[in-house]
Amino acid sequence: MKMVTAFAPASVANLNCGFDVLGLAIEAPGDNVSVSFNDTGLSRIVEITGDEGRLPYEVAANTAGKAILDMCRHLGEKRGIDIRIHKNMPFGSGLGSSAASAVAAVVALNGLLGSPLSKMELLPFAMAGEAVASGALHADNVGPSLLGGIVLISGYQPLDVNVLPAPDDLYISVVKPDVEILTQEARNILPKEVSMKAAIKQSGNLAGLVRGLYESDYAAIGRSMIDVLAEPYRAPLIPHFDEMRDLAFKAGVTSFGISGSGPTVFAFSKGEEKASLMLESLREYLLAQGISSIQFVSKVNTKGAVLC
Ligand code: HSE
Repeated sequence: MKMVTAFAPASVANLNCGFDVLGLAIEAPGDNVSVSFNDTGLSRIVEITGDEGRLPYEVAANTAGKAILDMCRHLGEKRGIDIRIHKNMPFGSGLGSSAASAVAAVVALNGLLGSPLSKMELLPFAMAGEAVASGALHADNVGPSLLGGIVLISGYQPLDVNVLPAPDDLYISVVKPDVEILTQEARNILPKEVSMKAAIKQSGNLAGLVRGLYESDYAAIGRSMIDVLAEPYRAPLIPHFDEMRDLAFKAGVTSFGISGSGPTVFAFSKGEEKASLMLESLREYLLAQGISSIQFVSKVNTKGAVLC
């Protein structure tokens, strides 16, 4: 039986000033999903590894399964699909774990069906899959994981998705402290309304960051990557957030913030040296506080999800 496998990378959403509208793909880790036809006429999840038994086998309740069900319905595909999910990243990390599974699922299914849809056309199905876990339709993880690059979603109705340029010497440091925060919970603590002052500050910052990226202007990028909407509410959930930020800037990074809904934190740096220095400094600091962490340095992954 023909089996097709896809890899979809982790992603850093929000990039501080782009809550729900900005995100970027990193090189690794990521999830793999394999699909094949079965002769039952029903889609089913036949294997999940790397999830410590936490993900549902019920197809509609699983991010990869839901994405596949929606895509089959859209394409009028009546054959059943067997789905195998291999998770290679932690849950509740703020690295787009649920998004990566949904993205790998739609890319694998598209491959199995002979590529009837473009990557852009796959996006709504991946979004619907990811929403099963996060409780909201947003594309700042699925967009970059699928398309690669730094992705700006400038509209949701209709979807308006743009891939922005990244400076060649941009490195992203990622540190995931051994703490879990579920996206749905981290969304629930945010206020439903924001002040005019905060809206003005955030929209100015978002515009400044986009300009900074187009012109590889690190000073503008650093000035702009400030989050007045989510970080004030979410940072207290992350142990030693302020101390980590101070250490990161001491190491020379351009910007520092929460990756998605946390607890992972990330930094932008010009060049690999500062990016690695920041990682080492945070790793040692967290260890001294009795908290282990996973860290990596990555360039922006411009390919996004791929067939394996
Ligand atoms: N934009 C989403 C949030 C990303 O911050 O809730 C979740 O990873």
